[in-house]
Amino acid sequence: MNEYIEANKQSWGMIAKDHYETFKARLLAHKTTLSQTQIQELGDIAGKRLIHLQCNTGADTISLARMGAKVTGVDLVPENIHYARKLAADCGIDDARFIESNVLEMIDKHHEKYDIVFTTEGVLCWLPDLYLWACNVRHLLADDGFLYVLDSHPFYMIWDEEKLPELVVKYPYFQKNADQDEWIGGYASESKQATNYSWMYTMGEIVTALSQAGLHIEWLHEFDWLFFQLSAEKQIKDKEGNWVFPEHKERLPYTFSLKATIR
Ligand SMILES: C[S@@+](CC[C@H](N)C(=O)[O-])C[C@H]1O[C@@H](n2cnc3c(N)ncnc32)[C@H](O)[C@@H]1O
Repeated sequence: MNEYIEANKQSWGMIAKDHYETFKARLLAHKTTLSQTQIQELGDIAGKRLIHLQCNTGADTISLARMGAKVTGVDLVPENIHYARKLAADCGIDDARFIESNVLEMIDKHHEKYDIVFTTEGVLCWLPDLYLWACNVRHLLADDGFLYVLDSHPFYMIWDEEKLPELVVKYPYFQKNADQDEWIGGYASESKQATNYSWMYTMGEIVTALSQAGLHIEWLHEFDWLFFQLSAEKQIKDKEGNWVFPEHKERLPYTFSLKATIR
């Protein structure tokens, strides 16, 4: 495992307990942590074998189990897996399975097939090799299975997040090197100081990685909202619970989703 992944593993481990507590409260109060968009785009998943990549402490995995899927969650971080199992037990889900692994290494160590590979909300930027990721997804998919991704739109990733809705490019769209950050978390925990690394991908690179791994894009949707709150003062929540900068509504992309099948 390279030093970047190791640093990310340590960093995410520092906020695992906070995430567990936040998501436990949400899952005890609400049926799901998934957005309406995800639920609608996924369709009926009852009885499907579903693997959730980068599952964190398992909140979405449990929501997917509550929709009737047979779920397996995968995450790099042992603390996340520990708390995901605990969260499942707290929620009375006894058939969810959680695996500690780098998602880029599933091809070497996990040989079960799935109807759905699910990965959403803050995932691709943590992966140093998108083609290798796509090959792992391909490896996990049953012949008639599909991949579902919902994540930050690559074009949104270029902006200085502290200045939005003012548009200041901070991260070049075509950046190849890892970006080093000293803070982790903030969306389901306080931010903690911890060196971590992330990567930029263009929309072309995402689509090309999947295509070169043998996947066919059924559709790719782009949205003018973010799936998390960046600024309490500057964003408003729409009726589906997504976060919008009013100045950019119907003008700029913030999130994308896609469905891909085996060619
Ligand atoms: C932003 S979180 C995913 C968000 C998730 N949807 C949630 O509900 O919290 C990113 C996750 O990716 C995991 N991760 C980062 N790099 C990984 C890798 N190479 N393999 C597996 N998991 C990884 C982190 O441990 C973290 O749990």
